[in-house]
Amino acid sequence: MSKSNVIKIGLCGFGTVGQGVWKHLQRTKGEMEARLGVRLELARVAVRDPRRKRAVRLPASKLTTDAMAVACDPAIGIVCELMGGTDLARQVTLAALREGKVVVSANKALISAHGAEIFATARKHGGHFFFEASVAGGIPIIKALREGLVANRFPCIYGILNGTCNYILTQMEELDAPYDCVLAEAKQLGYAEADEALDVQGWDAAHKAAVLAWLAHGRWVDPKHMIVEGIDRITPADFKNAATLGYGIKLLAIIVRDFATDELSVRVHPTLLPEGNVIANVNGVYNAISVTGDVVGTTLYIGRGAGQDATASAVISDIADAAALLRHGKNLHLTSEVAPLPAGGVKLAPLERIRGCYYLRLTVRDQPGVLARIASVMARHHVSIASVIQNASETDGTASLVLTTHESNERAMQTTLRDVSRLASVVDRPLLLRIGEFSE
Ligand code: NAP
Ligand code: HSE
Repeated sequence: MSKSNVIKIGLCGFGTVGQGVWKHLQRTKGEMEARLGVRLELARVAVRDPRRKRAVRLPASKLTTDAMAVACDPAIGIVCELMGGTDLARQVTLAALREGKVVVSANKALISAHGAEIFATARKHGGHFFFEASVAGGIPIIKALREGLVANRFPCIYGILNGTCNYILTQMEELDAPYDCVLAEAKQLGYAEADEALDVQGWDAAHKAAVLAWLAHGRWVDPKHMIVEGIDRITPADFKNAATLGYGIKLLAIIVRDFATDELSVRVHPTLLPEGNVIANVNGVYNAISVTGDVVGTTLYIGRGAGQDATASAVISDIADAAALLRHGKNLHLTSEVAPLPAGGVKLAPLERIRGCYYLRLTVRDQPGVLARIASVMARHHVSIASVIQNASETDGTASLVLTTHESNERAMQTTLRDVSRLASVVDRPLLLRIGEFSE
């Protein structure tokens, strides 16, 4: 193969994802090269600690600690940013794009925080930014939205976007496993972020929801403006209560647009899903996304949402697109190069307009009149009770009270929660979960 048919790749990051990419790229290199008509060569790899032992071996001569040098190396055409974080990752990404290179990224935190700047830089300097691995691991949801479903507008996209949380919830529900042990296992398996709080507090799913909302609606929504709640306060008792009521519990990202009012809501929270809902039965590290398009109807995507191999699959698909782009120039099939949707007048929906039913778990003093006081607070905010489950403690004079509501809205429920927490008979911080009823 002639020299002009060699494309050099630089990896910034050789951890869980970086090693997976190189492991599988080496395995599939022959087929990829035959299909793409180019030779893919690993030029340099930036890591923090070159002496660290790694499962995937590399010649020491390829290693550097200088990620910017990889980004700016004129011989490198494709830079894979697989370090994580938003500071150095941003610098590396912008530097490579300014040089007109293709950047492949799995970094949803970076895209959520700096997506507008990254895409503007790519457009200005003729660089390209591919990010299939940033959402839902091995599921090609980015391609589905911008290519396969390009004819559609999207009134509702919802699903499980965090593999770590789904793994934890599944293990807690099925095996009654303690939260901390399962979280440690998820880290060991390479599912969790370096800062696992991003996973369990819902921020990682919010970053991914921001990317999907931008793809579907052309607007960047800052996670600060979303409802973002994690799974760290869910207890085994919540699974039992949910099952009694006919639900499972999943951490969902929900992106809803009302095209009549042009209002958009993006939120992430643990959600009670009816047991018959397909997504309620997607377990372990698997992600699942339901995308409703106005032309196609509802489509569903399920696959591994985290971990080395699933993520490597998505990164390598971007590397293949990048190689085709560098080898053959603009490709009509590559609609990922189509400009983003104009946001138009889309605005964020006020809390009153986010409607649904709710599950409220309270620990209360087991005394006469307590339920009446709680019901009175709820009535004051026009929240109607649908069901009550009460379990008294045999030891400390408290009772666990689980109330579900008829349809209400976020504003009413948040003020209800605030006022109920202030009652002297409520002894612990209440837990509010949303009940998700979606048409499939
Ligand atoms: P990781 O295992 O922690 O690997 C990070 C890599 O970046 C390591 O090789 C580390 O070097 C290197 N690195 C960190 N800071 C650096 C610096 N200042 N200079 C040079 N190298 C540096 O993380 P990961 O799980 O592979 O995740 C990487 C990215 O993919 C993140 O954005 C993450 O959100 C995203 N992602 C991960 C998954 C997953 O399942 N793990 C799935 C989808 C997306 P050392 O090895 O020397 O420490
Ligand atoms: N920590 C993320 C998750 C990795 O568990 O989903 C995949 O983005």
